[in-house]
Amino acid sequence: MNIAPSLLAANFGRLEKETRRADASTADWLHLDIMDGHFVQNISFGPAVVKTVRPLTKLFFDVHLMCSKPEILLEPFAKAGADQMNIHVELGERVTHLIWAIRSLGKKVGLAVNPPTAISMVQPYLDQIDSLLIMTVNPGFGGQAFIYETLPKVQQAYAWRREKGLNYNIGVDGGVDFKTVADCAHAGANSFISGTALFHLRSMKAGVKKMRKIAENSAPNESEGK
Ligand code: DX5
Ligand code: ZN
Repeated sequence: MNIAPSLLAANFGRLEKETRRADASTADWLHLDIMDGHFVQNISFGPAVVKTVRPLTKLFFDVHLMCSKPEILLEPFAKAGADQMNIHVELGERVTHLIWAIRSLGKKVGLAVNPPTAISMVQPYLDQIDSLLIMTVNPGFGGQAFIYETLPKVQQAYAWRREKGLNYNIGVDGGVDFKTVADCAHAGANSFISGTALFHLRSMKAGVKKMRKIAENSAPNESEGK
């Protein structure tokens, strides 16, 4: 179970404080959304910001590259302190090389899939990745409503993981709050990326605890073969 606050929802005027808040929250990962103004219609922050917050926490840095040319960004983000880098399957034939490039940098590999993209697109890569990131909103902005139609993808990813005997994480990203987290966990997700629902709380620690509990209580029972 990985609870991952997304820094995109932080108050950017107080990034140090916000990072420390996430650090003290008992979360597992810090999710860092990188938007290039081309792959998505928004720009967030770059390696310099990741490097700045890196010494403030020991949290696992899960970098989500919503970028058209991740090739030129992998090394800078690796050097800035990423632990895992997620690239998008929508990049097509470049995915194989990108996975290899992330591995060569000694980092964990994540593969993200947008709501309109078929889950079958990720199937060829499942034995090469550490994490599958199922987008539950169209990427670009925080605070959007969860798209329920993406849940069958989580179920499929969960079924494949069992069938193939693999152990990639199944992450959900976008609109994950205290209600939708239960549906995601029930469908088989084990990594929960949550920006607005966690950062906009007075106590992120209480929020992380609550989210983890709901996720644990909603997770399929492995022994029942669900
Ligand atoms: C969406 C980003 C998400 C975002 C989630 O483009 O990839 O990681 O930060 O934010 P919330 O939880 O507010 O939907
Ligand atoms: Zn993200």
